[in-house]
Amino acid sequence: MPNGLITSLCYISTARADLTEADFQAILKEANQRNDTLELTGLLAFNGLNFMQILEGSRASVNQCIALIETDPRHDGMVIFDRREVRRREFPGWQMAGIKVDPESQDSKADLDHILSEDGVRPDTRKHFESFRSFGTPAQ
Ligand SMILES: Cc1cc2nc3c(=O)[nH]c(=O)nc-3n(C[C@H](O)[C@H](O)[C@H](O)COP(=O)(O)O)c2cc1C
Repeated sequence: MPNGLITSLCYISTARADLTEADFQAILKEANQRNDTLELTGLLAFNGLNFMQILEGSRASVNQCIALIETDPRHDGMVIFDRREVRRREFPGWQMAGIKVDPESQDSKADLDHILSEDGVRPDTRKHFESFRSFGTPAQ
């Protein structure tokens, strides 16, 4: 990787209206397969309406993958709100951690807290995902 830095990008987007939890699992499966090849890691959260994702890896891999993700018909309205060069990955052990969050579920809170409690996770990343969780839709 040139100069040893990792590119880290974070976006939110709006899921297609009828997207199910099974669709979300299918997305995660695809993500894990390609991210293994591209040496990408990160976290993808789905709150029933929106996605928030951190994608981290070499600049070339991140650019290649985000171009694919952006044209994926399972969501739209992508807004990249953070892009930075960092010394180390926040989610080195996850080809793509995935979590369905729900503001009223203590289990989903515990699962998210667990992922965000890893040593390298920055405080602002924790804040972004915790606030994202709080404006999701309760499970039916
Ligand atoms: C919200 C969201 C996040 C995704 N994240 C990833 C990812 O991290 N890595 C990946 O390879 N694909 C990811 N995908 C899936 C790709 O968008 C999908 O595999 C690709 O667009 C399909 O391209 P293809 O038809 O050329 O194979 C994501 C899709 C969505 C909707």
